Amino acid sequence: MLPAEIKEGIYWVGSMDYSMRSFHGYNTEKGSTYNAYLIMDEKITLIDTVKGPFAMEAFGRIRKLVDPAKIDYIVSNHVEPDHSGAIPFFAQQCPNAKIVTSDPNGLKGLTGRYGEKNYVTVKAGDSISLGKRTLTFIPTPMLHWPDSMVTYCPEEEILFSNDGFGQHLATTARFADEVDMSTVMHQAKKYYANILMPYGLQARKTVEALAGLKVSMILTGHGVSWRRPEDIAAILRAYKDWSSFQRTDKAVVVFDTMWHTTEIMAKNVADAFYKAGYETRIFDMRCDHIADVMTELLDAKYLAVGSPTLNNQMLPSIAGFLCYLKGLAPKGLKGFSFGSYGWGGHSIGQIEKELEACKVEIAIPGIKLQNTPNPMFLNDLQNKVIELAKS
Ligand code: FEO
Repeated sequence: MLPAEIKEGIYWVGSMDYSMRSFHGYNTEKGSTYNAYLIMDEKITLIDTVKGPFAMEAFGRIRKLVDPAKIDYIVSNHVEPDHSGAIPFFAQQCPNAKIVTSDPNGLKGLTGRYGEKNYVTVKAGDSISLGKRTLTFIPTPMLHWPDSMVTYCPEEEILFSNDGFGQHLATTARFADEVDMSTVMHQAKKYYANILMPYGLQARKTVEALAGLKVSMILTGHGVSWRRPEDIAAILRAYKDWSSFQRTDKAVVVFDTMWHTTEIMAKNVADAFYKAGYETRIFDMRCDHIADVMTELLDAKYLAVGSPTLNNQMLPSIAGFLCYLKGLAPKGLKGFSFGSYGWGGHSIGQIEKELEACKVEIAIPGIKLQNTPNPMFLNDLQNKVIELAKS
């Protein structure tokens, strides 16, 4: 387990989590990394720690560079345990280190989780001198926890961005330009959609605040980092678009089915959007994951949700998806519900109500089908959707 030199005197000393497949419900098919960075200066500084069970891996890397007792500062940009979980271990191994955290929420969070330690707090614009380098702290509250902050080193033009601009992507490569860029951008989009989407205003403010800084490297808390000017520009542009919910001609169709009738409706809804010139994504909740739906919804115009009625309810997979959608609170999305039923048919109205609660604008009344479809019904359904998509 070797450290990776990022720049002279600055090392990646994090840990790899190749096996993680779920990050509180978000499917992470490519695992993740917990990135920590060691700055070797007159004051030796560790930027962030790692998830608790990975402490020894990061510690092994650090020990190859320095006696941990010589570390002067541990900067904790974010209290969430994937970055702070190893703080109790590092506080023990680095008895001379001050733990730098945001005032007041970082202090509250760390004290609440780990008890009294050698904390020092910082506010917006506070700096500490490491010798040749300076670290300046920029709070980014609710991006995505109240305590969140980023750390900037002007002499190196490096931003330590923690969760911002990261991806759940386990790789030995440390920079985006060393791996397939479409994979990185997809994973960055998935990360934004599933972790940061509700905090668009804060994301936009952060991107605006960074516009005033010279940044030639963004060192992330997860996955790969950014160093080529064109890649930095691309990820900042993407954050600007995502945080302002820039939408394209794209439709997302989500369904579950009992006896394939709602599935037939879903396929016809998707066909109709496609015929109207829309990029179309269809998700079957029996086998697809809600986190992948959210990734596609980030820039879609329409969401159609279908479920048959089971015991007077929508199917649980659809209820789970709508609950997740409500929490992530997308803005500017239009949608409608559909579904088949044998008797009752409550699910369609229930979905519509939930979509309204998710602030999705109801574009057309729910489309209901009793028993099985005939060609005329499907033709009408398609025409209704095409008319909507072209309106
Ligand atoms: Fe990567 Fe909010 O933790």
